[in-house]
Amino acid sequence: MKLRNKINLYTAVLFSVLLLLMNLSIYFLFSNLILESETKGVKEETEKIAEVFNQSTKMAEEGEFLRAYVPIDGMIRIIKPNRQGTLTTTSPTEIELSKEDAIYYTGEISKRMMINHRTYAFASMPIILSDGNVANLQIMKNIERAIENLKILRIVLITVTLIALIPVFISSRLLSDLLIKPVTSMIKTMTEIKQSGQFKRLPLEGKSKDELHEMGETFNHMIDLLETNFEKQKQFVSNASHELKTPLTVIESYASLLKRRGMQEPELFAESIDAIHSEAIRMRDMTEQLLLLAKHNEQWNLHMSEVNLNEFLKQTLHAFQNAYNRKIIFNNELQPSLMVDTDEQKLKQLMYIFLDNARKYSDKAITVAARIKDGQVFIQMIDQGIGIHKDELPKVFDRFYRVDKARNRKSGGSGLGLSLAKELGEVLDIKIDLESKEGIGTTVTLYLQF
Ligand SMILES: Nc1ncnc2c1ncn2[C@@H]1O[C@H](COP(=O)(O)OP(=O)(O)OP(=O)(O)O)[C@@H](O)[C@H]1O
Ligand SMILES: [Mg+2]
Repeated sequence: MKLRNKINLYTAVLFSVLLLLMNLSIYFLFSNLILESETKGVKEETEKIAEVFNQSTKMAEEGEFLRAYVPIDGMIRIIKPNRQGTLTTTSPTEIELSKEDAIYYTGEISKRMMINHRTYAFASMPIILSDGNVANLQIMKNIERAIENLKILRIVLITVTLIALIPVFISSRLLSDLLIKPVTSMIKTMTEIKQSGQFKRLPLEGKSKDELHEMGETFNHMIDLLETNFEKQKQFVSNASHELKTPLTVIESYASLLKRRGMQEPELFAESIDAIHSEAIRMRDMTEQLLLLAKHNEQWNLHMSEVNLNEFLKQTLHAFQNAYNRKIIFNNELQPSLMVDTDEQKLKQLMYIFLDNARKYSDKAITVAARIKDGQVFIQMIDQGIGIHKDELPKVFDRFYRVDKARNRKSGGSGLGLSLAKELGEVLDIKIDLESKEGIGTTVTLYLQF
């Protein structure tokens, strides 16, 4: 069943049941009240007549007495215990009642009874006859008028219930429309997104700030997020394929050159092999970096351990110095026993990214300084190379961003190093600060917690 119909049905049923219960209780309360008061009235009347009868025992004729007190729509009767000589007087409208069996009651009685499909209030009182014997004075009174009134009340209540159901149905329809409209609009937008493959938003302006508005806003935020991520992904894939195409073209052209003339020209052979080799290495590095970048933060798989920072820095710098044959000045102000909790391999990778840049973009010696200040460990890598222009500084952490593309191709960069460093810094909880002046040099500071 559709949500709209469900809301309609539930509200209508609920309100109908409530109305019905309310009207039923009103009806029963009133009918009880009216019938009780009728019965009570007959009882009181009987009591009064019995009293009069008892006081005027000298009255010559009991039959006369009965005629004087017969109710307008009813019967009055005197019954002896042996039920002989029962005296009955009825009003002209209730002659039929005289045929009813006479029953003698020992005590006082008052009740309602049905005779010939008509309702009567009945009361019986003991009296003392002129001969000293005890008898029953009984009065029966037609209460059909009260029953008629109750019938009218019943009809009024049923009509009121039916009329009241109309606004109930209308308001349940309005309520379901109010709730369903934003949902239907959301479904429509979603279907449009599915069919067109475009990111669309829900129109929200001018609506009250209720939960449905909030739901719409959340939906739009989600679409925003999806769109940005989708754009980033698209950008990344196109950049990556573009970047991988260049080394592949170089490799392909050198390979075909070798195929054609490689055997005859040994110097061409050496040059081609060199080029193919270096491009292949560049591609391998780039692919590795790309794969790392494609990983999400949760998938970084950290191996945290207590690392002696002194030893770590000495080893890392020594290895780097040997690999590239570059002079590194190490200003170490750390205590020899200083331990930090980190992932050693990833920290090394992070330092290599900056040291590699310092090596590529400067010719002089690289300075590395390590010290503690305000409860934090600083590792600084300083080069006196070409530096970065201040307009370029905010962009260097972007994927594939290189300041001077032509020059960097020669130095083998792909523009992924710093974006990888940014991600590594985030997972290792290391703040990275990059300061640079064009023509003067670059200083990178890593802030480690310990
Ligand atoms: N120490 C530095 N001195 C001068 N320019 C730098 C320095 N570090 C980075 N840059 C500039 O920032 C750009 C981005 O650096 P990044 O390390 O991300 O890429 P890359 O070094 O070109 O390539 P790779 O992916 O191989 O590291 C570089 O191309 C370079 O122009
Ligand atoms: Mg780099």
